[in-house]
Amino acid sequence: MKENLVIAVLVSGSGSNLQAIIDAAERGEIPGRVGLVLSNKADAYGLTRARNHGIPTAVVDHKAYGSREEFDAKMVEAIRASGARLVCLAGFMRVVTPVFLRAFPHRILNIHPALLPSFPGTHGPGQALRYGVRFSGCTVHFLDEGVDTGPIIVQAVVPVHEDDTEETLAARILKEEHRIYPVAIRLFLEGRLTVSGRRVMTRDTTRIPDFSRRNPDA
Ligand code: GRF
Repeated sequence: MKENLVIAVLVSGSGSNLQAIIDAAERGEIPGRVGLVLSNKADAYGLTRARNHGIPTAVVDHKAYGSREEFDAKMVEAIRASGARLVCLAGFMRVVTPVFLRAFPHRILNIHPALLPSFPGTHGPGQALRYGVRFSGCTVHFLDEGVDTGPIIVQAVVPVHEDDTEETLAARILKEEHRIYPVAIRLFLEGRLTVSGRRVMTRDTTRIPDFSRRNPDA
């Protein structure tokens, strides 16, 4: 078993997914630890969460760079210095360029609050509500050049209630995000994921009889 692989987490805001990852690592549920939290915003609460756990932080302010590529290159430098094996975007509100993608091929994950490929981009829960779907959810996927288009690793389903507002739906989806992001990270760090075209195959899942709301239920 590989122990204590370093994960870099990128946040722009609250960082509740970051917290779920830190907690899962501290409980020993993933064979790694968060070794860097990087934000493009100095006041992101996610940075405070990191400091509370003694995790090194870095701020790379996108407004200080003339181009997206220069910004990405600076982030790459900080992440490389951390020795990170895996990069997790968790509410990171910048679109990255090939400079970033090529630095960590097949090693960047993202979480999105919708059942992709439905409702990519911003306001996933609001888009789902306005469209009128009965089920929404969340998705952890590998990052590629598109917006929320990369190969899907884990999804969880969240039913839409008729009295839902964007906020209530987003809150229930967020709870599922906190469950599935650590699962995807564990599968990745345990070397159990293989990407074949768009499909991600998972080795040795321990499926429970009803895994219909989270898949794979590893
Ligand atoms: C989450 O809904 C995530 O899916 C989206 O942004 C939100 C971030 O929440 N990309 P938090 O910062 O992890 O609390």
